[in-house]
Amino acid sequence: MSQFEQLYRQVALSVAGNPVVEKVLSKQGWALAQRFVSGETAQDAIKAIHRLEAQGIQGNLDLLGEFVNTPEPANANTEMILQTIDQVHAAGLTPYNSIKLSAIGQGQTVNGPDGKPQDLGDVNARRIVARAKEYGGFVNLDMEDHPRVDETLRLFRELVNEFGHQHVGTVLQAYLHRSEEDRRRLDDLRPNIRIVKGAYLEPASVAMQSKPEIDAAYRRLVYEHLKAGNYCNVATHDHHIIYDVMHFALAHGIPKDQFEFQLLYGIREDLQRELAEQGYTVRSYIPFGKEWYGYYSRRIAERPKNVMFVLRGLL
Ligand code: FDA
Repeated sequence: MSQFEQLYRQVALSVAGNPVVEKVLSKQGWALAQRFVSGETAQDAIKAIHRLEAQGIQGNLDLLGEFVNTPEPANANTEMILQTIDQVHAAGLTPYNSIKLSAIGQGQTVNGPDGKPQDLGDVNARRIVARAKEYGGFVNLDMEDHPRVDETLRLFRELVNEFGHQHVGTVLQAYLHRSEEDRRRLDDLRPNIRIVKGAYLEPASVAMQSKPEIDAAYRRLVYEHLKAGNYCNVATHDHHIIYDVMHFALAHGIPKDQFEFQLLYGIREDLQRELAEQGYTVRSYIPFGKEWYGYYSRRIAERPKNVMFVLRGLL
């Protein structure tokens, strides 16, 4: 990241976190958010999958919402995700969902059926992965801010052991200093991992701050994961990295079915189509739902040009 981009990102994320800004944008921003969000309902998202599948692109559904502090919304989100999985199956598609543990109760303790305390996020994630597995589907545990990484990786290990690596994956963020070590520690699971650069505002004590450093760490993570024989979801819009991964795979005899490219809905759609036409698996991360503000503000913070889009829209 250039110093300008770094500063822009920090300012944009802090401004977006301001309650007054959130109130104004949440009220007026839905029309703008639709550039990155497929709609408010699961049916809107399913329509988006059908549209993308006609172009050879697969879907990965994400019910928007994060950071809930009480069991009621966590359980309500879980029920909606379960219903979505049912609806995707009923539409003749194989469910592929991404979930944020902070939206389904991670960090909240409840009593389990045996009376013992349990993490609500664990309970709900198990229900979701079990349902997806019934239909041969897949669930990805998204990675959120750094205090959640240990718990997310602990749960990921348990879920892979219970349900198998064909049905559950997670994410490593290249900007975190710890991610290379985390990746190595997971190797025994033959894990399906999505590699991303990282979208949260993190301090220098835990995360790299410069773009060249993050890009280099990104490439190392992907290359190491592929060399270890694991399935890799290369999740970036950075075409330099995408082309480098293609060349790396060719040079090391890594087959096209050992990795896929994942991009966000509404971003670099030209590139998504181009990759699919070249025979690569491409998956679009398709958010839907009413709680779009947090997701939307991270997309704005990623690119200075996007803020002009918001301002023009508001004016
Ligand atoms: P970079 O930011 O360097 O951008 C490269 C180019 O891509 C830009 O020059 C521009 O052309 C285009 N671009 C990037 N962002 C754009 C935007 N918002 N609008 C328009 N163009 C844009 N993060 C996380 O912390 N946890 C997670 O679980 C996930 N999950 C996830 C799934 C998928 C499928 C993707 C693609 C990304 C994530 N992320 C994520 C987000 C990720 O960490 C990162 O913030 C974004 O992908 C932006 O970084 P890039 O890799 O695209 O590169």
